[in-house]
Amino acid sequence: MVQTYSQKANHNMRRPVVKEEVLHYMRTRQKQLDDPLKSLEDFAHQENIPIIQPEVVAYFRFLLEVLNPQSILEIGTAIGFSTLLMADCAPQASITTIDRNEEMIALAKDNFARYDIRQQIELIEGDAINILPTLEDGYDFVFMDSAKSKYIVFLPEVLQRLQVGGIIVIDDVFQGGDLTKPIQEVRRGQRTIYRGLQRLMKATLNNPGLTTSLLPLSDGLLMVRKNSSEITLLD
Ligand SMILES: C[S@@+](CC[C@H](N)C(=O)[O-])C[C@H]1O[C@@H](n2cnc3c(N)ncnc32)[C@H](O)[C@@H]1O
Repeated sequence: MVQTYSQKANHNMRRPVVKEEVLHYMRTRQKQLDDPLKSLEDFAHQENIPIIQPEVVAYFRFLLEVLNPQSILEIGTAIGFSTLLMADCAPQASITTIDRNEEMIALAKDNFARYDIRQQIELIEGDAINILPTLEDGYDFVFMDSAKSKYIVFLPEVLQRLQVGGIIVIDDVFQGGDLTKPIQEVRRGQRTIYRGLQRLMKATLNNPGLTTSLLPLSDGLLMVRKNSSEITLLD
């Protein structure tokens, strides 16, 4: 039994930003997972471990097959579900993934030992804030799926290591819609995340060095393309 997550954790995952019936359609009508990813998804749901939702899985399949990235960085491995999905969709890519939670790291290691059949994945243990400065440059696809208040903190390091033309996908950026409200209407315990996400939007959405797009998939994806070698983040 996994200790890290409880049934009460991640309440924004249960606040869809599109109509329930549209969500149901997206989750049931698109191609379903096969094993081993299906079993990993079932395990994550059973243990309340937050992993990307089926509509994001379908979108990642499409996106990665189109982009054909060679060098992927992921911040937030959990049990390695999204890592193994990316390995499956981009079989030629090498993937670096970072996590700091010991319980998740142990599960991810076990899953990579079994299912990383092409040995594409390197798991780096520790806080991304300490790991990012030690990484080499040259990623062409980055998936940020970790502590939401920290996306804005990680972003400068990530952009520095991203090739021009490279893409960052940032998960869970709408806070179940709270992002659209004044801060007084947001639960006190959620306000640090709210402030971090507001800073993230301000730094990126109208930045002349970036092309961005917000997608209402799951709790919202922020897509960022790096258009030039020098990016100044707006504060
Ligand atoms: C939402 S889960 C990742 C799910 C995974 N990407 C998937 O879809 O299968 C978030 C993970 O990020 C990790 N995490 C959060 N903040 C982190 C940080 N500052 N450094 C490293 N890992 C972090 C947590 O330990 C957790 O395992």
